[in-house]
Amino acid sequence: MIRITYLMALVLILAFSLPTHISASRIYTTKEHIFPEFIKWHIYVVNGLSNNQDLFTHCKSTENDVGIHNILSGSNITWSFRTDFAHSTLFWCYVRKDHDASSTFDVFWYYHPLFEKCNWKNCIWVAKDDGIYLKDLSKSVDELMHEWYSGM
Ligand SMILES: *[C@@H]1O[C@H](CO)[C@@H](O)[C@H](O)[C@H]1NC(C)=O
Repeated sequence: MIRITYLMALVLILAFSLPTHISASRIYTTKEHIFPEFIKWHIYVVNGLSNNQDLFTHCKSTENDVGIHNILSGSNITWSFRTDFAHSTLFWCYVRKDHDASSTFDVFWYYHPLFEKCNWKNCIWVAKDDGIYLKDLSKSVDELMHEWYSGM
C-alpha cells in the first residue's frame, strides 16, 4: 500500500513537472510545431529593377484586393494577414515592368517549404531585370522563381 502511494506521488510529480517544460521549449526550437494559423504573415513585393524602372503591381486574394500600385525602383509594398483555418488562404500578384513584360504568380499559399523560406513571418518577393525572385531567408539567398513573360 505504501509503495503504491509513493509510486503515484512520483508519477504525479513527473506529470506536473516534465511535460510542461518539454512542450514549452519545443515550441521555440522546432518551427514545425507552431501552427501557421497563429502567425501574422507579411508579404513584400520589392521593385529591384535597374534604371529607375517602375513596377506596376496588382495583388489580391479571393477575399482581399491589395490594390493597384506603381512601385518606384528600390521601394516596396507590404501587407499582412493571418491564414484561415481551412488552409485555403492564397494571395497572388500580377506585375508588369514595361509594356510587354509581365508575370502572374502566387505570393502566399499554405506550403511548409514556403513558410521556411519566409522564415515563418516575411515572404519577400523581388522583381529583378531577369525575373521574379523569392528571398530564401533560411539560406540568405534570392531564388529565381518566375521568368518575365513577354508579349501581350
Ligand atoms: C521596404 O521599404 C521600407 C521603406 O523604404 C524599408 O525600410 C524596408 O527595408 C523595405 N523592405 C524590403 C523587404 O525591401
